[in-house]
Amino acid sequence: FLIGFWVFFSGGPSDLPEDPGSGNGGDSALQALPIPELLEDENPEAGIASYNLVARHGTMNFFDGVETLTMGYNGNYLGPVIKLQRGEEVHMKVTNELKEPTSVHWHGLEVPGTEDGGPHQPIASGGIWEPSFTIDQPAATLWFHPHVIGTTATQVYYGLAGMLIIEDENSQSLGLPSEYGVNDIPLILQDRSFNDNGSFLYYDNMMDGAFGEHLMVNGAITPYLDVKPIKIRFRILNGANARNYYLQLSDGKGFQQIASDGGLLEKPVEKEGLFLSPGERAEIVIDFSSYDDGDVVAFKTGEEEIMTFRIGGDREDPSTVPETLAVIEKMEESSATGIKTIELDGMGHMVTLNGRQFDMDRIDDNVVLDDVEIWEITTTGRMMMGTTGHPFHIHGTQFQVLSRNGAPPDPNEQGWKDTVFVGVNETVRVIVQFQHKGVYMYHCHILEHEEAGMMGQLEVK
Ligand code: C2O
Ligand code: CU
Ligand code: CU
Repeated sequence: FLIGFWVFFSGGPSDLPEDPGSGNGGDSALQALPIPELLEDENPEAGIASYNLVARHGTMNFFDGVETLTMGYNGNYLGPVIKLQRGEEVHMKVTNELKEPTSVHWHGLEVPGTEDGGPHQPIASGGIWEPSFTIDQPAATLWFHPHVIGTTATQVYYGLAGMLIIEDENSQSLGLPSEYGVNDIPLILQDRSFNDNGSFLYYDNMMDGAFGEHLMVNGAITPYLDVKPIKIRFRILNGANARNYYLQLSDGKGFQQIASDGGLLEKPVEKEGLFLSPGERAEIVIDFSSYDDGDVVAFKTGEEEIMTFRIGGDREDPSTVPETLAVIEKMEESSATGIKTIELDGMGHMVTLNGRQFDMDRIDDNVVLDDVEIWEITTTGRMMMGTTGHPFHIHGTQFQVLSRNGAPPDPNEQGWKDTVFVGVNETVRVIVQFQHKGVYMYHCHILEHEEAGMMGQLEVK
């Protein structure tokens, strides 16, 4: 059966119609990296911030001469970056100008379930949603995206996603590169395919989600960025529906990872390559000071180019990367009150979580507020052909990874995480605490798997 299945679906992406970019890759490669705008706080009071987000339809010219219908927040594609301060009281006003329902989920934010923006907080077409919350977690790079049943994957593919940055006293005292758009740069990684007429080609290959032929950063196909020969911090989001990235510089030069999903690591970790599965974030610092003016280096995943850096200019570097970045209190296994097992199984549209598919009307687990739990997340090898594993995400909290197949996690996974990749036949043990009440999702962040039901929900009481 499996072989027949494989043959049936193997005529996948290569059979797709040629996209309009095939002939003019040179043009798209000349595009500068777009830097999303910082969203303006409309509340003049100190300590209180008010933001307006509008989900809307739009159009983009990803390729010369063809128009692509898109979706975006406050613009045509993707959204502005929202920068929040720890301790701040935040009021969001989200207006849905789409012709369909949406929701806005704050991925990684520790907020009450009613403010989380999951499937239980849909915003009807023409509707408004006004969540508010207080930021009470360390500095981190988070993100936001729709989370409605049935259309999460396509709405994200069409452009609904944005980055959310939290700063705190610690992050602002370290001297890290932190001038937004200058030496502190967001990189939202995605992949997209296009039809001949320029429209998005959303092709769910039925195996492991929707992949695109073109690698995009901040909504531009293989862009370039001019950088000074100094240290530059990149806040990287794997915002792809299904694609894993293994990020490397084309000359093999290393970089430092300074943060994982939920905030700064205790100390910088030297990396020569960085694996990021869908939903995960990392902050890295690349030191361009060893390059000469005029040098060009590419950022790649595997053999594919994501973007290029063109180096040149003033060598005066205002920033440092200190030895100690943060204090992360280890959550002790002995403090755990219970163990949960999460089994991720299947592929394509036949995926399950603990043997069943998501049901909006079923609460799968109950959690006591502030209790510490150990979750053992496993994938089986059965029915995993074509799938390398599942990025497992929990809403409303940040957790710590205890072990991967019994071994301690790599140093860059020893900080706060909200999404962790679980490879084939792996068991990843995490320790987690919920500090807010409400209903929260947990799921595979391959959006097609989430849509197909590889998701559960728990209630914290
Ligand atoms: Cu990034 Cu349930 O979400
Ligand atoms: Cu989330
Ligand atoms: Cu999955």
